[in-house]
This record gives sequence, C-alpha cells and structure tokens, in this order.
Amino acid sequence: MATAHGEKVLKYLEENGTASSLKLAELWNEDHQKIVGTVKSLLCLGEVIEADLQSSALWDLTEEGKQVAKDGSHEAQVFNAIPPAGSTQAEIVAKVTEVNSKFTKDMAKVGFSKAMSLGWIVVDKSSGAPKFIKKVTSIQDKVQEHLKELATGKDTLTNELRTEYKKRKLIQEIIIKSYLMKPGPSFSTSVTKQETDLTPEMIASGSWKTKEFKAYNLNALGTPIPRGHLHPLMKVRAEFRQIFLEMGFTEMPTNNFVESSFWNFDALFQPQQHPARDAHDTFFLSDPSTATNIPVDYMERVKKVHSHGGYGSQGYGYDWKIEEAQKNLLRTHTTAVSARMLYALAEGGFKPAKYFSIDRVFRNETLDATHLAEFHQIEGVIADYGLTLGNLIGVLYEFFRKLGIEKLRFKPAYNPYTEPSMEIFSYHPGLKKWVEIGNSGIFRPEMLLPMGLPEDVSVLAWGLSLERPTMIKYGYDNIRDLVGPKVNIQMVADNPLCRLDKHRGSEMKETDDLQDLENRMDSIMTRLRGIETEVKKLKRQGKTTEEKLTLVIEADPKYPPRSIQTLVRLLVARGDARTIVTVHQHSSLASACPTDLMQWPNLTVSDGSRIDNQCNLTWIWKPIGRHPIVKIVNRPNGDIHGEAAIARLLARILESWTDCAMYENFDSSICSQIDDWLDTWEGCIQSGDSKFLMLIRRIQNQLGHPDGRKWLVGPLPGVKSLADIFLSNLLGDKLNTLNCGRKLARFSPVKGI
Ligand code: PHE
Repeated sequence: MATAHGEKVLKYLEENGTASSLKLAELWNEDHQKIVGTVKSLLCLGEVIEADLQSSALWDLTEEGKQVAKDGSHEAQVFNAIPPAGSTQAEIVAKVTEVNSKFTKDMAKVGFSKAMSLGWIVVDKSSGAPKFIKKVTSIQDKVQEHLKELATGKDTLTNELRTEYKKRKLIQEIIIKSYLMKPGPSFSTSVTKQETDLTPEMIASGSWKTKEFKAYNLNALGTPIPRGHLHPLMKVRAEFRQIFLEMGFTEMPTNNFVESSFWNFDALFQPQQHPARDAHDTFFLSDPSTATNIPVDYMERVKKVHSHGGYGSQGYGYDWKIEEAQKNLLRTHTTAVSARMLYALAEGGFKPAKYFSIDRVFRNETLDATHLAEFHQIEGVIADYGLTLGNLIGVLYEFFRKLGIEKLRFKPAYNPYTEPSMEIFSYHPGLKKWVEIGNSGIFRPEMLLPMGLPEDVSVLAWGLSLERPTMIKYGYDNIRDLVGPKVNIQMVADNPLCRLDKHRGSEMKETDDLQDLENRMDSIMTRLRGIETEVKKLKRQGKTTEEKLTLVIEADPKYPPRSIQTLVRLLVARGDARTIVTVHQHSSLASACPTDLMQWPNLTVSDGSRIDNQCNLTWIWKPIGRHPIVKIVNRPNGDIHGEAAIARLLARILESWTDCAMYENFDSSICSQIDDWLDTWEGCIQSGDSKFLMLIRRIQNQLGHPDGRKWLVGPLPGVKSLADIFLSNLLGDKLNTLNCGRKLARFSPVKGI
C-alpha cells in the first residue's frame, strides 16, 4: 500500500482533480519538503499520478525584517526614543538599546539618517553640544506596516520599495520548487506497493501472480565497489615494467633500501673521498652503522683496484679503508643493486643477461618543487660479449621509442663507474627544446673485472627517474602533490589509468606524414596540458569567475556521430557562448579522414590563444568504434561515453550558456519525453535491428498524427527539442532510404535553430 500520507494525497486528488504540493502543505500545516517526498514516492509507483515541477519566487522577511515588523523601523525607534526637550545621539542610542536589546549601533546609524531625511528629526546646535530634537509630533511607520503585511503573505510592494527594502536587507527573495499534480492513467486511491523482490515464498504460494513488480531501473548507477587504488607512480611503474618485459629484461630484486657503502660506491669504483659520499648527499645509518657480510676476496680486489690499480688501470692511488666501505647507508641509486647482480652473474659462471629495476633511492637533497629526499629510479643493464657504444645508443632508441619518444640526442658526461658516459636528451615538442631524460654508459673495466666477469664482456646501463615522466603524464608541477604528507588521498582514488603513448609495432610504416600527424597530436596534447595548468593557476589565484570548459571529443569516422556534430554547430552558432572547435585526425587511423569529416564545423582553426574562450572543443577522429567519448579536461572522472550521453551534456551546456531551451530548460514532463526518446535509441544500439524497426514505427506513429506534426516532442518555442535534433540527425537519411513514406520526408535533419 502507498503510505498513509500518500493515500491522503491521492484522496485529495480524487476529490479536487489537481493538487499543488505548496497548497497541501499549507492546508495540512505540514512541512513542504515532506509533501514533496510523498509526491516523489507516488511518482515511483508508475503512472498513478503525473506531476510537473514548478518553481516560484517569493519575497519573505529576513531576520532583521522580522524584528522591524515587530518593534518598528530603525528610524521610528530612534524617533520614539527622543524626549520632548531633545537629547544627544549617545543618550538616544543608549535609550533605544535599553528598550530593545537587539538594536545595534549600525541600526541606530540607519535610524538617524532615515529619520533625518524623512524630516522627522533635526540637529539643534543652539545650546552648545549638538542635540537631536523632534521636528514633527507624530509619525507613521510605513516600513513596519509594509513588512507586517508581507509577513501575512500579502505582497503589495511597489518595485521601488522592494528594491529599497532588499537593499536594507529587510526582505529577501526565496525560490520554492513545488509540484503540481494530477491523476495519471492508472490512477487509484489505494495503490499497492510494488514488489522489488521475487521471493521463494511468493513462488511457493503463487502470490506472485497477483503482485505488481517494480520495473528495473537499468539506468541506475551501481554502487562503486570498494577497492584499493594504485598511486600514479605505481601505474607508471607498471607501464615501464611492461616495456622492459617486452624487451626481454628480467627484474632485479630491489628489496633492500639499506645498503653498505661497499656496494653503493666502492664496487662501482667510486673513490672513498668522492663528494657524493659526503653526509650532505648520503643518509648514513647509525644503527646498525656497519655491514659485515662483504665477500672478502672480492673486497680485496676492489681495494686493490682503488689503491694501486690493475687490469690496465692506474687506480686512484689512495689508502682504501674497509671502515669506509662498511658504513651502512640508504642506497643513493639502484646501480648498487645492478652491482650485486653483476657480481652474482660472474660468480655463477657468466651468461649474457638483461636486467632492469624500478625502485626507491634516497638522497640528502635540498627539497624543492621537483626534488624530494627520496625518489624512484628506473635502470636497465645489458651484459654480453663485445657490446659497444653503438649497441647502447641502439638500445636507448628502442627503449624510448616504446615510450613514444623518437628524437634523442646524447651528450658526453661523467660517472665514476661508466666510460664512456652519456646524458640522454629528448626533444620536447611543447617546450620546444631538448630536455635531459636520463643518464647512461658502459661500466668501467675497473668495476667489472674485479667481479670476475670475462674480459671481453661489456655491460651497458642507463637510468632515469620515475617521478619525472609521472609528473608530466599526470600534469603535476609540484612533486609534493604526488608524494609526501600533503598528498590528497582522494587523488590516488581518482587519477586515471596510465597509458604511455607506446609505439604500435613494426607493421606501421613510418612515413613523414605519420611523423607529422604524431607531432601534431603531441602539440595538441601539450597545448591542452598548457591550458590545464593555466586554468589551474588562474583558479588558484581565484581569478576565474566564469566557468571555462575544455572538451575533447573522440569519435570514429566509420560512425560519425551526426547529432553531436549538429549540437556542436549549434554551440558555435551561438556567438555568446564563444566556442572554438578544432578538428584533428589521430595517427592510429588506418586511412586519412574524408575531407567532409575534417571540415564539418566549417570554421577557421583558432590561433592558439584559446584561453579566452568559454569552451574549447578539440574533436579527434580516432578508430574507437561506435561509441564516441567526451573528456572534460580538468575534471576527474570526466569521461562520458556514448552519443546520447554526450548529446545530453552538450544540450545542458547550450542551455546554461545561452537562453535557449531544448532539454532540461523545458518542464520535467517534456524533459522526460525527451529522455525517453534518447533512451529508446540507446536501447536500439544495444539490441539491434528488431528494436530499431520498432523505433521507426514509433516515430512514424508520432509524425503521422492527424495534426500533421513535424516534431517528436513539441511543438515547442525556441529550439527544437533535443530528441528531434538527436533522432532526425541519426535517422534522417536512414528513414528516407528505408522508404518509410512521405510522412517521414518532413523529418529531415535539423541543421540549425
Ligand atoms: N646511477 C646513475 C644515477 O644515479 C644513473 C646511471 C645508471 C648512469 C646506469 C649510468 C648507468 O644518476
């Protein structure tokens, strides 16, 4: 059964035909929100009632206004406090506040100035100190009268008075949303509550036969499943790990943050006086402060190469001390792990090997926006016979190509453990300059030969940080937003998947065209990122009053979403919305986009200073299948999938930025008709042709109406409804080819407003 309250509403409807939730609240002396709740639950019962959402504006007294209605206007209270002989301002204020404790100094100020300008009181300076005296014997407190009247629900204020009282903060406008109800097609005063579950008992007793079941709401969102979330660093790490694995590398065990100086420095032929060992750069451990398990023979060979040289080297010629090598520290680079692995490789009988590691290292650095005392290193190591610098360069090209980085340059550098050494630079199309992305080299014989590796084996290695690509990928310019105590934990839950723009394999021909496209994509992405940071900056400075939107729509040229193209055209056509559209094709398209798809908005491309627009829309043709995607830049969880959902979004934007009505600016019954048409179409996409024919029949019925209507929903003022724009664009051509008769010829694609 409907609730007792619900039944009361239904009874009232039966007797009176219509009912307003506001009126019922007044009639039954109930809280209006409670009646609204009842209306909503009745609406859930199917077609028992119909209800239109209405909003009405109402002027009501503010708290101060209520005081005035009770005690009189400020000016009247001041007037009444003046004795026949007059008195000083301070005395008058004291008197009013004595009578009325809620009367403040500010109110007194207003009271004096109003009473003066009304000619009720004057200042008398004849007897020395200025006194206020009454100029009239009696007054009429119009303000109090007006407010008292308004409080009873009668609003007879003139516009001028309304403005004045509003300015004096005595009255305020309140918007009330209410429902106007009437009986629906299956109206009844005793409504059975619909069942939400089919239980074994109902089946056993057969009672299910007579019960009414609530329809499934397939549009309801599911409850998000509680689960863990990967930090962006871990997501990017997974991508790098994947690249290494694809290239046949094995992961090294990096599970020791604490390392001895021996493995971190000495094994790497780093002299004991090297400045990097200094406590300024390295965190040494106090407990346990020393390591004792260094392989003795190997240590002797390391000592020898440092102090006297060997293997064709002069060494450093200093007094190498075991105490220095034993000092425990937090490893300053993952090359310590590589050293352990190479030693183990030599011990076990050398076989060519490719290793990688991605883990944390620690340095006692000055902290700033891009540096913390701990970060992650990515390191690759290749050990084989006869490897050369050419091999290293080749491998680096291959590795970075898998990350989508194709242009590299190398600069000679110095590491104590590699010779030659090279810093790796890549061209950053956004910054338009070469930026350092890593360090590399071939390990020195002074490091490898004491380990016992064969003489003709060389070992290539390179390293880079994990934080830098992660910050670029996720658009952070301060490391503290990504790591450390200031991190917003919600960021970890909300950040999107990481897909590095990896190379798509050898089947793609690398023509200049392709390169051009890639470069163009890069520059679009960089521009977007630039805008994103710009907007973030502006927001931080609190300078954005107007909402700016950056949208990226991806659609497949095989299934051009005509309705969305039309809506975008409408958005552009409304000059007041200031929308700029740029169309691009993604490099992953198998063949070039037809020109009509590239030029469909018929607009000149913006000049890049897009920050001034209200909406920047980037349209990318990409092979993504039937369902277009819109990404709202700068909003977490901003991706919206499918033509109908995107159409709804664009309609809402149009409505909020212009004065038109096509969807939610209509009242709720029209709005739900529009939703119904869009949902039906979505259903067709899911279930195929038979549903499709049903939809066409429905459209035929609608348009075959005796009054010869041309619209699915309407006719309505202003723009055609979203349903008409949507379906006429999607089906217009199809309907004509399906020979659906003259009736439908009228239903031609809506191209404008
Ligand atoms: N260990 C170096 C660093 O910390 C990186 C590197 C690794 C250099 C391997 C050369 C070879 O910066």
